Amino acid sequence: MNSTKTSADGSADIFDLTGRRAVVTGASRGIGRAIAIAFAQRGAHVIGMARSEDGLKETAALAEGAPGSLDVHATDLRSPHAVEAAVAVAAERLGGIDILVNNAADDHDSSIEDTDLAVFQRVQELNLQSCWVMIRAASPLLKDGGGKVINIASVLGLVGIRDNSAYIAAKHGLVGLTKAVALEWARKNVQVNAIAPGYVETAMLGDLKGNEALAAYVRKTTPQGRWSQPEEYAGPAVFLASAASDFMTGQVLVVDGGYSAQ
Ligand SMILES: NC(=O)c1ccc[n+]([C@@H]2O[C@H](COP(=O)([O-])OP(=O)(O)OC[C@H]3O[C@@H](n4cnc5c(N)ncnc54)[C@H](OP(=O)(O)O)[C@@H]3O)[C@@H](O)[C@H]2O)c1
Repeated sequence: MNSTKTSADGSADIFDLTGRRAVVTGASRGIGRAIAIAFAQRGAHVIGMARSEDGLKETAALAEGAPGSLDVHATDLRSPHAVEAAVAVAAERLGGIDILVNNAADDHDSSIEDTDLAVFQRVQELNLQSCWVMIRAASPLLKDGGGKVINIASVLGLVGIRDNSAYIAAKHGLVGLTKAVALEWARKNVQVNAIAPGYVETAMLGDLKGNEALAAYVRKTTPQGRWSQPEEYAGPAVFLASAASDFMTGQVLVVDGGYSAQ
């Protein structure tokens, strides 16, 4: 078992992350920040990564006083060399890696005719390639005593919409990567899963409150009639990082207010 804290009477906290060593990418704001803080609050030792030193410092400050810890490493994960170096930094500072959350991504909205090849490639480099490189670089560490990989995909890794082909291709690829590596590592005590968020109020989606057309579209297309907050992904991520999900691998946990149930 991985981080298992079970007891005969079932009273132990199966979501406990005490002493687990975690890397969370895209931790300078949004969903990555919420997940990094939640892990530290559950006792994990976390390294949050992103480009913005200020954003990362803010995330670390928000985790002060948590039973675990939250350290940061500023880097541009679009470069494969930077990803490999980041894994080495995390391994050295934490003494290993048990949990890897591939969350950093950016978006690009335009029709396929209006999207340059260079833009398509840039989106793939961060949203898909960096996750593949990160998993490959961390594999010896993750397989050393059990591990968990959580890829933050999207409902747009499961269904399409118009004018978002570069992002949607990358997110469908990330779902495929999740399944493929889950099968490779199924007997190595490493679980690989994805979370598919619906609409979330973060920088990626822009100003929902100031853009009534977008806000109305999100309300209309989401059965629960609202968008979500980054903190609503902390629980699903803790579940997938903890012993509570030890028999779950290669799956996509969809957290979308019912969007993909239609
Ligand atoms: N928001 C939504 O509605 C939504 C819906 C479905 C899925 N998602 C997914 O959820 C995840 C988190 O998104 P979010 O909504 O929290 O977006 P966000 O607020 O824009 O956060 C993106 C994070 O990625 C980091 N990042 C961007 N480019 C990077 C680079 N080159 N190197 C390293 N880090 C980089 C950003 O930090 P820096 O700028 O400091 O580098 C930031 O911490 C993404 O995978 C996204 O695709 C979001």
